[in-house]
Amino acid sequence: MKRILSGMQPTYQLHLGNYLGALQNWVNLQGTGNQCLYCVVDMHAITMPYERDGLSKASREIAAAYIAAGVDPAQSSIFVQSAVGDLHAELMWYLATMTQLGKLDRMTQFKDKAGKNAEKAGLGLYAYPVLMAADILIYQATHVPVGEDQKQHLELTRDVASTFNHRYGRDFFTLPDPMIMGEATRVMSLRDGTQKMSKSAESDLSRINLTDTPDMIADKIKRAKTDPLALPDTVDGLEGRPEAANLITIYAALSGLTKAQVVAEFAGKPFSDFKPKLAELTVAKIAPITEKMRHLLAEPQEIDAILVKGAETARSIAAPVVAEVKDIMGFWKV
Ligand code: AMP
Ligand code: TRP
Repeated sequence: MKRILSGMQPTYQLHLGNYLGALQNWVNLQGTGNQCLYCVVDMHAITMPYERDGLSKASREIAAAYIAAGVDPAQSSIFVQSAVGDLHAELMWYLATMTQLGKLDRMTQFKDKAGKNAEKAGLGLYAYPVLMAADILIYQATHVPVGEDQKQHLELTRDVASTFNHRYGRDFFTLPDPMIMGEATRVMSLRDGTQKMSKSAESDLSRINLTDTPDMIADKIKRAKTDPLALPDTVDGLEGRPEAANLITIYAALSGLTKAQVVAEFAGKPFSDFKPKLAELTVAKIAPITEKMRHLLAEPQEIDAILVKGAETARSIAAPVVAEVKDIMGFWKV
């Protein structure tokens, strides 16, 4: 049996990159004998400035987005990290004692988030990958479906797990495999095909949010940056055309076609033919999710009930793992 674990931070709103790079894959991994655990990683969200009064609402909203996108609470456990925070933070501390600073120094997400003033960045932001390793190892997850940007964090997780296993001479922690799936493992900004679509980019025109109305989606796609050429007739023809490549990739991931099939369909056509089709497809996929999210958020108690149940399941897996880690590490016990 595979044990799948993944998570997203309750910061800002989810966008098409989150959906295509991660969420859509989470949904597809359900059933087929997998045990799925999907976490709202609120303890990660506080590593950057955040609004105190919005945090708990944001966690509910992310949980609603998971469900609206198709994560089924009857098949998957959905929970908030801080509800099992005592255990995650405890394991993080043990793992921190076997994480080399040199490795943390190489984390590109830290460099991006800390910016030029890294001296002023908090310890939490720096230690973020260690908490992420704890999130994964505490459930002995075998597979972690994420977008490409998380690959480096997964490598660190495997590294820390092997250090533990080696240091204590026990084959204890499962080394998790990243699952970077589908056509759109890295969705790019609609304004600049060389930048990742991100929650924090200044221009809202750069991303499609899961909460955008159909009109907003159509407008953003219409205004998306392109180049003056027609669409190519081979995938190789997308080389050096980042914006065209991105829009084709999005189309492929949304439609379930391969890039080659999409290219074949639109070969030689101008963007003015392609963009309305892309807008139509995006709206068809996103609008029902937005609508379902709205319904779910009207009944927050139902989401809370799902999260309470999810946290119980999570705790029942995590607690014995942490107890065994302590035992292996030689801590006092009666
Ligand atoms: P985050 O927004 O950093 O909380 O990311 C949540 C999940 O979405 C992670 O698995 C990321 O790898 C994935 N993700 C975020 N941005 C993108 C993007 N532009 N393209 C593909 N996947 C993404
Ligand atoms: N670091 C991930 C991101 O920025 C979020 C995350 C935290 C995560 N803990 C995790 C993802 C555990 C997968 C598994 O997207």
